[in-house]
Amino acid sequence: MITVRQEQNEQDLPGIRGVNREAFPDTGGAKVFYQIRQAATEIVSLVAVDDDNLIGHVLFCPATIATESGEVCGMGLGELAVVPKFQRQGVGTMLTNAGLDILRERNCPFVIVVGHATYYPRFGFRPGSQLELACQWESIPDKSFMALILNQDAMGGVTGVARFVGIP
Ligand SMILES: CC(C)(COP(=O)(O)OP(=O)(O)OC[C@H]1O[C@@H](n2cnc3c(N)ncnc32)[C@H](O)[C@@H]1OP(=O)(O)O)[C@@H](O)C(=O)NCCC(=O)NCCS
Repeated sequence: MITVRQEQNEQDLPGIRGVNREAFPDTGGAKVFYQIRQAATEIVSLVAVDDDNLIGHVLFCPATIATESGEVCGMGLGELAVVPKFQRQGVGTMLTNAGLDILRERNCPFVIVVGHATYYPRFGFRPGSQLELACQWESIPDKSFMALILNQDAMGGVTGVARFVGIP
């Protein structure tokens, strides 16, 4: 049975690296986020496990939106990976929903992501441009930068450039 649980830092790191190497064979995974996880205290990192084998991982890390009246703090979905053998069986969905539930409980105002334009809308993500949010990286296609508003009250009138904290 596949279950989702919080990452146990030291113990799970080799497995998380392995998942990312398998899911992203060309690049070996989003290395920049390994750096972020060392620096950020506020990460949400969940793993999917099948019979003690780590088969999926999701990482949320701090993000901000710079507005004219200051910064609004939220989170970014920095990394989502499922090993090929277990893809398209609902594991990515389980991981993402579990992470979003945690962020909702924490009253997180928003989540940003840069990724597959046909995958993330199922969780409620919309192109940033529809929400008057811009990506920190101008080269990212409009449809690939998305945001999910979790707390409408906190996000009323918030527009600006969204950034993953600590990633230039
Ligand atoms: C993308 C990924 C995380 C999805 O996880 P998953 O467990 O395979 O997906 P789920 O089983 O939860 O969801 C299946 C749905 O996702 C869609 N999907 C899977 N991979 C996709 C992709 N690369 N692009 C768009 N949609 C994708 C499937 O078509 C399926 O759609 P349907 O429900 O309409 O039939 C996983 O395929 C993966 O790790 N891919 C390689 C690494 C990667 O691209 N990571 C995401 C970076 S943004």
